[in-house]
Amino acid sequence: MLTASAPGKVILCGEHAVVYGKPAIALPLANIRATATIEHMPTGSGLIIAAPDIGERWQVSKQSGHALAILAKQTLDQLGSKQMPDALITLRSAIPVASGLGSGAALGAALVRALSQHLGTPLDPAQVSRLVYESERVFHGTPSGIDNTVVSYEQAIWFVRGQPSNDGVQLPTIEPLVIGRQFALVIGDTGVRAPTHVPVGRVRQQWQRNPQQYDTYFAEIGQIANEVRHALAEGDIVRLGTLLNQNQELLQLLGVSSPQLEQLITAARAAGCWGAKLSGGGDGGIMLAVVDDAKQEAVARAVLDAGATRVFTTTIN
Ligand code: MEV
Repeated sequence: MLTASAPGKVILCGEHAVVYGKPAIALPLANIRATATIEHMPTGSGLIIAAPDIGERWQVSKQSGHALAILAKQTLDQLGSKQMPDALITLRSAIPVASGLGSGAALGAALVRALSQHLGTPLDPAQVSRLVYESERVFHGTPSGIDNTVVSYEQAIWFVRGQPSNDGVQLPTIEPLVIGRQFALVIGDTGVRAPTHVPVGRVRQQWQRNPQQYDTYFAEIGQIANEVRHALAEGDIVRLGTLLNQNQELLQLLGVSSPQLEQLITAARAAGCWGAKLSGGGDGGIMLAVVDDAKQEAVARAVLDAGATRVFTTTIN
């Protein structure tokens, strides 16, 4: 029996605009993880994926249509495995689903890692990321690729999606980030489940109706991501907070914030964070606030009092 895992993630800045080729910054959440445990089964059992937390079980066969079953088959193809292994993969996750914390991508990455290790050919982060990207397309339609990348590489990244090339391969730009000074994030969950493809699809429709206006919003968000990168490198947490607040204003204009998100963001600001914004697709899900270590507890308490169903804290260094 072996277990593999992958972390949750937060997008610090640049969500939505990243779908349109602008840069974004994402951070892994090392202590909120999805795990996949794989064990041998009797001959003839085939490959089974079980998700006991949601009471689901899929037999991986030629016909199975669930995204995770397709991902398992694609992983076997990538490994050149001619035969279906007799094994049971059990998936568990501490990452709330449809919350902006990358639960789908993390489950996918844990699954690919467990299966490839079980077959004696562990895949590298780029290979894991590519396989998970294909399955994210089933869930999300037009994902930028940032979620699968940050959970597969498990490091803070600067990300620009791949542009189509002549041979059809779209390789993203992925660069590690320099963080000049440790800072803390308080992440508040509205408890409102919001599948990413819904706001992403709506933003696409709005962009199609009004491309000039939306291209301007995306460009401004991209510019903020550039400045956030500098603020991180210089350890300028005050500037970082201001930039995140500006990013939130643009996300409001894109129409992806919600009353619950605004409530948590307002509470975090009133409690003394440096800046706060929604994170991920929006419409619900999570918000984040950048704080000094000394303010972490007070901001977390304020966000809970404002109605968050749970709060995570993490240190970025
Ligand atoms: C989702 O975590 C981030 C979005 O920008 C969608 C994407 O990048 O695919 C909203």
